[in-house]
Amino acid sequence: MAREGEVVCVTGGSGCIGSWLVRLLLDRGYSVHATVQDLKDESETKHLEALEGAEARLRLFQIDLLNYGSILTAVSGCAGVFHLASPCIVDEVLDPEKQLLDPAIKGTLNVLTAAKEAGVSRVVVTSSISAFTPSPNWPADMVKSEDCWTDIEYCKQKGLWYPISKTLAEKAAWDFAKEKGLDVVVVNPGTVMGPVIPPRLNASMLMLVRLLQGCTETYENFFMGSVHFKDVALAHILVYENKSATGRHSCLEAISHYGDFVAKVAEIYPEYKVPRLPKDTQPGLLRAKDGSKKLMDLGLQFIPMEQIIKEAVESLKSKGFIS
Ligand SMILES: NC(=O)c1ccc[n+]([C@@H]2O[C@H](COP(=O)([O-])OP(=O)(O)OC[C@H]3O[C@@H](n4cnc5c(N)ncnc54)[C@H](OP(=O)(O)O)[C@@H]3O)[C@@H](O)[C@H]2O)c1
Repeated sequence: MAREGEVVCVTGGSGCIGSWLVRLLLDRGYSVHATVQDLKDESETKHLEALEGAEARLRLFQIDLLNYGSILTAVSGCAGVFHLASPCIVDEVLDPEKQLLDPAIKGTLNVLTAAKEAGVSRVVVTSSISAFTPSPNWPADMVKSEDCWTDIEYCKQKGLWYPISKTLAEKAAWDFAKEKGLDVVVVNPGTVMGPVIPPRLNASMLMLVRLLQGCTETYENFFMGSVHFKDVALAHILVYENKSATGRHSCLEAISHYGDFVAKVAEIYPEYKVPRLPKDTQPGLLRAKDGSKKLMDLGLQFIPMEQIIKEAVESLKSKGFIS
């Protein structure tokens, strides 16, 4: 049930997914505390201030995930918290601790501690399918879903720090919820794309830009399917509003290989230099139409891949990211 006038906090509100969530929350009548890293940077604030309902019901807060006091100020007075803020870097990193692990894990614990102190009733944590995969020992005849966890040792051997950061952050959230009795629920989105609200692109939209420019990377350890920004935002709201929603929630329109996605982009946009990739780019991944059954049971009807691609590419064109 949407609760008109209820105050909620969105950490990472300035980001690509965060902006969509802030937009849908304002549309539903919520009052929103959205966090940004730098209040003086208009590229983080202007697009949020322009949203319908923002003038009356949006407040912006500057936080640093490692600064507990800044987070406590943002969540104070809120009934719910959506914790999205986390660095999303799939390229090689020089200092994994500083660039990914600390903000993801300590940041999550800071947000949950502040939520507990502020008396928040439910926290939705944005994890990722990067906390499901890579999981090379998962049985080949089983669909990867909520009971599947990323293989940390495999990731360490391969230097895959983003999946490590998301997996350890999610595990830390579950441990905190159990120990301190905080109501936590998790959304695990696939590769998120669609119309972009902020003036800056996130890692998944950059991936699409690179693909349109001819990049042949197969994202073997990162891809499991695509999902529209709007559906990820809706998923967060659904699991927040439905008290019956518990645990993890796989969130993608279908489990697919990056090769399937790339072939579809090439079919719709033959004018770009989209490469031909093998069909099975994610070895051992079982394709599945209903990979996100828990969210579908809550009423989410996922936007199909073809529409995700069209809306994402048209948005990139209209905002001048590609010509
Ligand atoms: N994109 C995907 O395909 C995908 C898939 C699954 C899960 N996710 C998760 O979804 C969440 C949002 O990602 P996104 O795609 O929307 O990325 P994004 O556009 O890069 O947004 C990231 C947000 O986190 C904030 N942030 C990062 N480091 C921070 C720090 N140290 N202190 C405070 N705030 C910080 C950023 O603030 P600034 O704007 O001020 O930099 C931004 O608001 C992340 O948790 C990500 O792991 C993303």
